[in-house]
Amino acid sequence: MNLKGCRTLLTGAGSGIGRSLALALGANGAKLALVGRNEKNLAEVAREIVRAGGYALTFPEDLCLPERHEPLVFSAAARLGGIDLLINNAGVSSFCEYSRENPSDIDNLININITAPLLLTRAVLPRMLAAGHGRIVNVGSILGSIGFPHFAAYSASKFALRGFSEALRREIAGSGVGVTYVAPRTTRTAFNSDSLYKISDDSGTAVDDPATVAGIILEAIVANRDEVYIGWPEKLAVRLNALLPRIVSIAISKQVAAARQLLRAA
Ligand SMILES: NC(=O)c1ccc[n+]([C@@H]2O[C@H](COP(=O)([O-])OP(=O)(O)OC[C@H]3O[C@@H](n4cnc5c(N)ncnc54)[C@H](OP(=O)(O)O)[C@@H]3O)[C@@H](O)[C@H]2O)c1
Repeated sequence: MNLKGCRTLLTGAGSGIGRSLALALGANGAKLALVGRNEKNLAEVAREIVRAGGYALTFPEDLCLPERHEPLVFSAAARLGGIDLLINNAGVSSFCEYSRENPSDIDNLININITAPLLLTRAVLPRMLAAGHGRIVNVGSILGSIGFPHFAAYSASKFALRGFSEALRREIAGSGVGVTYVAPRTTRTAFNSDSLYKISDDSGTAVDDPATVAGIILEAIVANRDEVYIGWPEKLAVRLNALLPRIVSIAISKQVAAARQLLRAA
């Protein structure tokens, strides 16, 4: 996909991976509609893009509200002159023992991580299919392929997003509209708590920076890739988990014990 002039709706654009993605897309000539709740963050990102010679508009929205998805797509398409690329990047995590998970937090997580991408895709897809071109990018996670203890609700949402991406890609094959599923590994953003980064650092697990992840996502878009798993040995762990899940259970047991200790002490 050519990024020059590419009319892009990007969720979660005000921070972390989304912010890095917005800056990189803007620098490559994409025309951006930036979505998130925090208006100040969005305005800062848009200002930075415009200052560098790019084009960006801000759309402050709470993606937990399903009735806002259609109007958001409608108004972004009207102001950009169409939508060629939808990037479902906004997401929330929950790191806790599942028996203590708050039901309203589960609801919120499912709304943002899976209902919003499904409904935004449903809203942009007819226009893309009619135009015979476009791309949906869903930002998942390595935990969308490896069910990870203490991330049960989060893993469930990203497994669902991966399944949705695969099914839709097969359904619309040959239409000119593609679906990319990207699975980052742990990335240093406000998404995770400091204690979680400490567990990663103590166990020698690599943590990516958001600009690196954004660069990989950009390459995947340009190359029209179907699926991208970020990081080695995480790529291998995904394959191994599909074939021999017990080996992965053993491999992650130290990290899981450290997480359990941390959560119980909290
Ligand atoms: N960081 C990691 O370790 C990691 C690893 C694998 C995958 N990922 C995935 O990468 C994506 C981006 O995460 P990140 O690490 O960049 O975290 P982040 O900095 O916390 O970004 C998440 C974004 O989602 C937006 N968001 C959250 N709730 C929202 C809502 N109700 N309505 C609208 N926007 C909402 C936030 O914007 P507002 O606060 O302005 O609403 C924020 O900009 C997520 O899908 C995450 O699952 C992250």
